[in-house]
Amino acid sequence: MNNLIIAIDGPAGAGKSTIAKIISKELNINYIDTGAMYRAITYKCLKNNIDINNTEEVINMAKDTEIDFRDNNIYLDNEVVNEEIRTVEVSNNVSNVAKIKEVRYLMVDVQRKIGENNSVVLDGRDIGSYVFPNADYKFFLVATPEERGSRRYKELLEKGYEVDLDEIINDIIKRDKIDSNREFAPLVKAEDALEIDTTGKSIEEVVSEVVSKIRR
Ligand code: DC
Repeated sequence: MNNLIIAIDGPAGAGKSTIAKIISKELNINYIDTGAMYRAITYKCLKNNIDINNTEEVINMAKDTEIDFRDNNIYLDNEVVNEEIRTVEVSNNVSNVAKIKEVRYLMVDVQRKIGENNSVVLDGRDIGSYVFPNADYKFFLVATPEERGSRRYKELLEKGYEVDLDEIINDIIKRDKIDSNREFAPLVKAEDALEIDTTGKSIEEVVSEVVSKIRR
């Protein structure tokens, strides 16, 4: 049987990673958080004082970087960076790193290689539209900016960050704008993706919509 590829795309905070993780467990297949890869590159830039606007330097650094996923951890050059990549500072810079075409080529290469030999659910922005245009199933999750913002707000509060809800909503809107307007492989719903509005829906409801489509 061929590998099963499931693409879950959508804007920031629409619930993609929560849903993708559950689906991967239910179907017993791998899960790749592609946003985490762009975050890891961004984190490495910030840590090494690489100016994100210096595209050439970012690209050279990315070429010299190893990112992989093992046992639910993301490794950046063989170091676990699960927490480090989730800071507000990384979130506010990641879209500007993710718009660099050459950085995307490198990340997409890794994603496609994983999908070549494994059944996998990937969440991101361009999975159904660019990385795996022939994915078996494509979902595009959306929710209002207010709902997405308050989800992120709660997440960050739980982790002990001091955050402001309005600021988070504004940051999310800003990020979506950069992600949607970049030239190469922007955030866009693939024509054949099933759009699910998660506003006001529980995780269970969304999972059941996704699973019922896959099992049908
Ligand atoms: O899903 P996330 O918030 O962790 O993603 C972080 C950023 O990475 C997001 O602002 C856009 C970018 N991204 C991307 O350009 N393509 C992907 N496939 C996944 C994420």
